[in-house]
Amino acid sequence: MNVSSRKEDHIRLAAEQQENPVPHRAYDDVSFIHHALDGIDRTRVDLTTQVGPLTFAAPFYVNGMTGGTETAMIINRNLAIAAAEAQIPMACGSVGIALDYPETAQSFTVIREQNPNGIVFANIGAGRTLDDAKRAVELMQADGLQLHVNAVQETIMPEGDRDFSGWLSLIEEIVGGLDVPVIVKEVGAGLSAKTLLKLKDVGVSIADVAGVGGTDFGKIENNRRSGGHDDYSYLHGYGNSAVQCLLDARSAGLLGASDFTVLASGGVRHPLDVAKNLALGARAVGVAGSFLKVALHEGPDAMVEVLLAWKSRLGEMMAIMGVPAPDQMEYTDILIRGESRDFAEVRGIDLAGLASRSQEKE
Ligand code: FNR
Repeated sequence: MNVSSRKEDHIRLAAEQQENPVPHRAYDDVSFIHHALDGIDRTRVDLTTQVGPLTFAAPFYVNGMTGGTETAMIINRNLAIAAAEAQIPMACGSVGIALDYPETAQSFTVIREQNPNGIVFANIGAGRTLDDAKRAVELMQADGLQLHVNAVQETIMPEGDRDFSGWLSLIEEIVGGLDVPVIVKEVGAGLSAKTLLKLKDVGVSIADVAGVGGTDFGKIENNRRSGGHDDYSYLHGYGNSAVQCLLDARSAGLLGASDFTVLASGGVRHPLDVAKNLALGARAVGVAGSFLKVALHEGPDAMVEVLLAWKSRLGEMMAIMGVPAPDQMEYTDILIRGESRDFAEVRGIDLAGLASRSQEKE
């Protein structure tokens, strides 16, 4: 199995998952309490968001997906054209393949070519060295580096790593040695408060919890196996949702800290899911699968339309809720039910305060 065909499998299987979405997502456990007279003038809503040293024009971004193949090149080109037009930050998929096989580099660098002035993140796996991280950033002329931790995926991946013991010290070395911000992320199993605290301890200042419920990489890797008794389907859906991770981060005092920024992603379907993540304390929200299907099947014009529509509709939601800026979403009243509520109760997280915090502001 060569690495390019693995990347093609990822695209095909992730796109297939979009056709058969998980019916219930943790975001469905979260609802806003509607206050019909809180609305403000839509023109007063400013979507600008600060993520570490970077200023995002809106509080969402295209999360790291692909690179390394012909199809990946088309997807990255379409995403980059749209990201440039809509001023939405964008990450590429793991640059590891381009470091190992330089002939594939153009499927990544197309992003910078199409979006010379926008915010672009390089992406690399946590087992890689500082030197690899520097090369990835240089190749993409990146404004930051996404560093993914994906032990569950690696385990189910037939050709994956099995030794995760060195990851934290490699992360520490990379964070200490790069002169652009590093965003540590999962790939769909979530980052617990314990993990976020470990990351903060080694100098990480931005993390994307990347929770379960959307693209399921365990399932993707399992689908690449031979079947029969060689089966890991019991690990489908393994991990914590972004909702759970954000509640956990809140309980550890990690939200709103001046030296640590929490981002969220995983299963975001539409602007209301973005709004829910912001209300739960994420500073910005990553979207992969929901954009992949447009970039793959519809092309750059549709992708531009989608990104502009998400921006505009998120602004509309904020106007309805009376929220002039993304970081003010923390004053919306939210109700949490179902499995997310069970998680909060067992972890000792108070949910009542979240349901009546808008009064605090008034
Ligand atoms: C991904 N994702 C990913 N993440 C990463 O850090 N490096 C990578 O190379 C990839 N590759 C990749 C390929 C494809 C085709 C998809 C759809 C996704 C994971 C991605 O960033 C995100 O964490 C998950 O997809 C969950 O988010 P969604 O898809 O539910 O929005």
